[in-house]
Amino acid sequence: MSALDAAWPDAAALPRLFAGLPRDGSPLWLDAHRAVHGPQPSAAGLIELVGAAGLRGRGGAGFSAGRKLATVAAARRRPVVLANGAEGEPVSFKDKALLRRAPHLVLEGVTLAAAAVGARDAFVAVDRNAGEELGVVARALDERRARRLDRGVTLRLAPVPSGFVTGEETALVSFLNGGAAKPAFTPPRPYERGVGGAPTLVQNVETLANMALIARLGPEWFRAAGTPDEPGSALFTISGAVNRPGVYEAALGTPLRMALDQAGGVRGEPGAFLVGGYFGSWVEPEAAVGLSLLDSDLGRAGASLGAGAIVVLPGAACGLDQAARVTRYLAGESAGQCGPCVHGLAALAGALETLVAGNADTRERAVRWLQQVRGRGACRHPDGAARFVESALAVFAAEVENHLAGRCTGRQGEFMPTGRVRP
Ligand SMILES: Cc1cc2nc3c(=O)[nH]c(=O)nc-3n(C[C@H](O)[C@H](O)[C@H](O)COP(=O)(O)O)c2cc1C
Ligand code: SF4
Repeated sequence: MSALDAAWPDAAALPRLFAGLPRDGSPLWLDAHRAVHGPQPSAAGLIELVGAAGLRGRGGAGFSAGRKLATVAAARRRPVVLANGAEGEPVSFKDKALLRRAPHLVLEGVTLAAAAVGARDAFVAVDRNAGEELGVVARALDERRARRLDRGVTLRLAPVPSGFVTGEETALVSFLNGGAAKPAFTPPRPYERGVGGAPTLVQNVETLANMALIARLGPEWFRAAGTPDEPGSALFTISGAVNRPGVYEAALGTPLRMALDQAGGVRGEPGAFLVGGYFGSWVEPEAAVGLSLLDSDLGRAGASLGAGAIVVLPGAACGLDQAARVTRYLAGESAGQCGPCVHGLAALAGALETLVAGNADTRERAVRWLQQVRGRGACRHPDGAARFVESALAVFAAEVENHLAGRCTGRQGEFMPTGRVRP
């Protein structure tokens, strides 16, 4: 046991990001934030600390945060920091919850990351329709300005359009550069040329908030939760057929069953689990038993954590119908600039809708389109949608047969949200 472990006997204890939150649902304003977490730490050695902690991005792709910091810090031009709080995924609310409840942890992470890479400008992107979060972040920024906490770096709030692909990093960069909030063809990637042409560190807000804790408590503290390969904790949005839908913090490696217990347990018999949000995969209840919140474990069931959104589909709902609705939504969210994405996702949605109607067996057509769209867009939108559809065809194979035989007994209609609905 290290000296740090001894100083933090309860190092693995949760919550971390949500520590000390007021019970009335209000934000942890600056004085309360300092009472819980202490004064703002130094950015000295942050890149090494984050690397040693093994922190991976919490925005969905899971890239090493230490490596990204080091790459941007080594750039020849002065970089910019862009905190990604856009969260356009309809079944994810964890970034909004973090911004709304613990804004100073995020803003500290932004300031520290900026100091570590040598940036003087930083932007915090928040959905312009997320009024509550925008108000909280604006006030938190005022608090920091009044105390002159961000010397050397200018933090700006950047309201961005709503939309599933807006949070893709090149879409955010394009919007901040005065263009449309649409993904751009790469290279260059934002870390090479981003906001204002400068190398840009794009980092999810939860990733940044973790940096603020690692700067204080060190990598060993961070690693006290999670597993050696997937250390730390993460925020999970758990919704659907659970008794207390919401955002929960859990150590990586927590059994899925325990995470669902945090959300009050599953209501009734589950039909299936969607793990990883709309870019994720459907998992059958039998396969979900025994799975843990780890990419290495979820991979056995063809799933991954993504940005930590888990939806429990009730047993009474028709999974095929829900999959068709979500696919139609994802097709509509295509930024409309890559042929395979525009036409392929619409064709996939059409194929699933035909199956729902029981009009014809369009499975083969769908499978053909899956091959056509993968890896064919400027961004990963078609790949994410393809993963979702492929897992739906496998997990809801029995439903497909029922529809083709004209005997679907499941409930149809809007269950999976395709707009902005708060849990
Ligand atoms: C279609 C699409 C949408 C995305 N939306 C978000 C988002 O809302 N928030 C986010 O942090 N990352 C989102 N990402 C991932 C970002 O492009 C980027 O990888 C991430 O912000 C990097 O931060 P991280 O390394 O801290 O996770 C999206 C990616 C894709 C392909
Ligand atoms: S792949 Fe789709 S969402 Fe991504 S840039 Fe191309 S059209 Fe837009």
